[in-house]
Amino acid sequence: MSPQLMAHRGNSGLAPENTLAAFAKAVESGADWTELDVRLSADGEVVVMHDATVDRTTNGTGAVAELTLAELKKLDAGSWFGPDFSGERVPTLAEVIELVGRRIRLNVEIKSANNPLTVGKVIEALSAAGLLEQSMVCSFALEALLEARQLWPGGRIALISGRGQDLEIALRHGLPWFNVEYHAVDEALVRQAHEAGVKVSIWTMDEPQLWDYYAALGVDIICTSVPHLMPV
Ligand code: G3P
Ligand code: CA
Repeated sequence: MSPQLMAHRGNSGLAPENTLAAFAKAVESGADWTELDVRLSADGEVVVMHDATVDRTTNGTGAVAELTLAELKKLDAGSWFGPDFSGERVPTLAEVIELVGRRIRLNVEIKSANNPLTVGKVIEALSAAGLLEQSMVCSFALEALLEARQLWPGGRIALISGRGQDLEIALRHGLPWFNVEYHAVDEALVRQAHEAGVKVSIWTMDEPQLWDYYAALGVDIICTSVPHLMPV
């Protein structure tokens, strides 16, 4: 079976990552999924941003966790990518759900895993929108995933890792998905995962000519920053 296609931070090849413009372009690309990164603002809102600070992807400075939503909303999150995206804002998870949640499946990566409120707020937001069962929650942080499982038993919860050998952690904790950096994947790893009932998603694979190779390995999802270029 052909892998499903997942956009990475929206269609971050065509629009500034983790913005509404990028998520709209992920839908246009025909991707089955979009991945997005979330953190909590100083006033506890779930906002969509990869880095711990706003410095790289906005015209501001400072830690997301020390800025209120009102302060984050004043920032330009698009001009760094190109003038066409000037004025693009830092979205909340709720805004992403509202714009595209019924047109593409959401894979929400918990970045502020050190904040114990994050996981609960993410699951509550997906659940309130009626989207939880079709979504995925993932993190590099095992503790966040174990908390997610308490709140969402049997849910599509994924351990992210750059190392194939960390499949063992997913197996030990009964996590149903392993989202692994694509260089770390080979046929034996996919077979071992599948024999144990664990599905495999690879990131961040931006080379269209490698699609067939990874499809032949049997990976379940390919996550890419260039979904519009992928030969699905
Ligand atoms: O979903 C996995 C991938 O997004 C992890 O890497 O740095 O892009 O969040 P990063
Ligand atoms: Ca991510």
